[in-house]
Amino acid sequence: MNAPPAKSRSETAYLREAKVVPGGSMRAAQWFKPHPPYAARGEGCWVIDIDGRRILDCANNFFSLIHGHAFSPILDAVHRAMAAGTAFGLPTESEILLAEALAARNPRMEQTRFCNSGTEAVLSALKAARAITGREGVGKFEGCYHGAYDWMEVSLDPSPANWNDESGNPASVRSNAGAPESVLRETVVLPYDDPLRCADILRRKGRTLAAIVVDPLASRAGTVPMSKETAAVLREACQRDGILLIADEVISFRLSFDGASRSFGLEPDLITTAKIIGGGLPIGAVSGSADLMSVFNHAEGKPKVAMGGTFSGNPLSMAAGLASLTHYSQSAIQRLNGLGDRLRNSVRDGFSAAGVEASFTGMGSLFRLHLGSANVTGYRTAYTSPEKTQLIRRIQFAMLDEGILLTPNCSGALSTPMTEAETSLIADKLVAVVAREVAGHERVAAG
Ligand SMILES: Cc1ncc(COP(=O)(O)O)c(C=O)c1O
Repeated sequence: MNAPPAKSRSETAYLREAKVVPGGSMRAAQWFKPHPPYAARGEGCWVIDIDGRRILDCANNFFSLIHGHAFSPILDAVHRAMAAGTAFGLPTESEILLAEALAARNPRMEQTRFCNSGTEAVLSALKAARAITGREGVGKFEGCYHGAYDWMEVSLDPSPANWNDESGNPASVRSNAGAPESVLRETVVLPYDDPLRCADILRRKGRTLAAIVVDPLASRAGTVPMSKETAAVLREACQRDGILLIADEVISFRLSFDGASRSFGLEPDLITTAKIIGGGLPIGAVSGSADLMSVFNHAEGKPKVAMGGTFSGNPLSMAAGLASLTHYSQSAIQRLNGLGDRLRNSVRDGFSAAGVEASFTGMGSLFRLHLGSANVTGYRTAYTSPEKTQLIRRIQFAMLDEGILLTPNCSGALSTPMTEAETSLIADKLVAVVAREVAGHERVAAG
C-alpha cells in the first residue's frame, strides 16, 4: 500500500504500541507494514480511523459484527445492561433470554452454555465429546481454523512439502513450535474436498475418535461450501463409529436463521457459535440436546466436564447478543444473502470481462478472493505460494487505499447496514484493483 503521510496519528500509535506489545499488535491478522490504521469509531458499515479516514468495513472484526458498528438497538441494550451493573457473581435473566433465542432458532440447540470466545466454545465441546465417548482422538479438516486449542491447531497451514503422510493422506502437521507429538498423534486430519479419501481414513480411524469438528463453509480452507458427498461421509462415519459431530458455526451460523448445518445435510451433536451471537462483544457458546449437554450439569454433583469462567454469560454480551439475533431476522438474512449472491456474480462477471484469472468463492454474506485458474474446492486448491500470498496482501493494501477493508487473505463479510450501493462499490473496486495488481505482477514476472 502507499505509505500514509509521515507522523500520522496511526503511525505514532503503532510506534508506541510496538514498545509494549510484541509485534506491535494484539493480533497478527489486523497488522501489516508499515502499520495498520487505528480505528477511532464506527458508523454502520463504515469505520473511521484516528486520522479521520472513512473506510468501508468488510472485515467487521473478523465477521463478528453482523449489524456493523454502533447499531442503535445493540447500543441501547448494552447501555441498559451496563447501567444495571456489568457483571455479578449471580446469574442474570439475560442469559436465559439468549439461550432461549438460540433454542428457538434451532431445535438442535436445546441447551446452551456460554463462554467468552469461539476458541473456548470449541475446546469445551471437544472436552464434552471426550467425556461422553471415553475416546481421546479428534478429527478435523486440513487447513481449517477452529480457534487456538492445541488439537485444533494441527495442520492449519501445511505446505506441499509436508502435507502428505507416507500413504498420501493429509499428515498431522505442527502449526506452533512446541506442539506435543501426542497432540499430532491424537488428531486425524481429513481432506475437505476428497470424500473417497475421507471415507477411507474414517473407516480405519473412526473408532478412535471422540469427535469430528467441521465448519461447513470452511473459511481458512477456501470459503467453499462443503460438498454433499463429504457431508454424507461424515454422517455415515459418525453413525457407524459413534463419533460425535461438532459443527463449528462460529462464522457460518450467519448463513441462515438456524445456522449452517441443516443446509449442508449435517446433523451435528454439538454446535459451537460465537461472533455474531454476541452482537460485537466477546462471546462463545456450546449448544446441543439436553441429553448431551448434561455432561456439563453440575446440579447432581461434580459434572463430567466443568465449563464456566468469570465472565461466562456476562450480562453485556448477553444483552448485545440478544439484540443482534433479534434484528437478524429471516427477512434480514434473506436480503443480506441476496446482496452476497449479487456481489459474487458481479465480481465473477467483472473478472471474466477483464480477462483476469481469479475466482471469488463464498456463500451468503461471506466472500473470498482467489488468484489463478484453479477451481477452488478446499485447502489445497486454495493454497497460495509465498509469492502469490504477497500478491494477495498487495491487493488487500490496494483495496484499503481505495477505502475498503478486507481481511489479510482478501476475504470479507457483508453487514446489514450495507445496500446495493456498497456492494457495487466493493465489486467495482475489487475487479479494478485485482486486474491492475495481477497485470503489474505479470509484467514484473515477464521481466
Ligand atoms: C470457525 C472458527 N472457529 C473458531 C474460531 C475462534 O473464535 P474466537 O476468535 O472467538 O476464539 C474462529 C475465529 O475466527 C473461527 O473462524
